[in-house]
Amino acid sequence: MHIIFETPRLFLRRFTEEDSKLILELNSNPDIVKYVHEPVLQTEEEASRIITNNILPQYRNNLGRWAIHTKDCNEFIGWCGLKYLPELDLIDLGYRLKRSAWGKGYATESAAHTLKYGFENLHIKLITGRAHIENTASIKVLEKIGMHFKEEGIVDDCPVRSYFLANPNS
Ligand SMILES: CC(C)(COP(=O)(O)OP(=O)(O)OC[C@H]1O[C@@H](n2cnc3c(N)ncnc32)[C@H](O)[C@@H]1OP(=O)(O)O)[C@@H](O)C(=O)NCCC(=O)NCCS
Repeated sequence: MHIIFETPRLFLRRFTEEDSKLILELNSNPDIVKYVHEPVLQTEEEASRIITNNILPQYRNNLGRWAIHTKDCNEFIGWCGLKYLPELDLIDLGYRLKRSAWGKGYATESAAHTLKYGFENLHIKLITGRAHIENTASIKVLEKIGMHFKEEGIVDDCPVRSYFLANPNS
């Protein structure tokens, strides 16, 4: 298992081709994909294509969306991580949790440590984060981890709020 880092309650690891059931579990729930401009998945084959085409290629640059597990019982609860956005030439912070894991501070904990890892280990200069203007939980997470509001705009026909944080060490 390729572990990226640990937090007090969680560890984050790279996804593998074997994880299509986990991605299906997340992306087949309409509540979870409501604000992320992605289709509700129906099959494991669709989930497998996301891993192969979207998730694994990001690992080439040590970036990527990483699977989150609880340390106490090794339960998969979702993902968090960093992704290169070629259209903006920026690194984007993102997260997505299973419905049963919401409301426990796990998104905030994994996102805060992802920023730290990005700045201290990957030496990224600036990290951005975006959320649909009605995605209150996600906006709350971005603000709680200290990201600064930049602007509202339209991305993929959706109104989003953009945030950023510069590397405090550079
Ligand atoms: C975004 C997401 C990861 C947040 O997960 P979470 O478990 O609620 O996150 P946390 O518990 O760390 O923190 C969320 C904060 O938002 C608050 N919050 C959650 N829903 C809220 C709502 N509807 N209105 C106001 N505040 C809300 C929580 O109270 C918490 O703040 P607090 O710690 O000050 O009480 C989760 O909702 C999710 O997976 N959503 C689907 C995928 C998604 O939208 N990802 C983000 C794309 S930009």
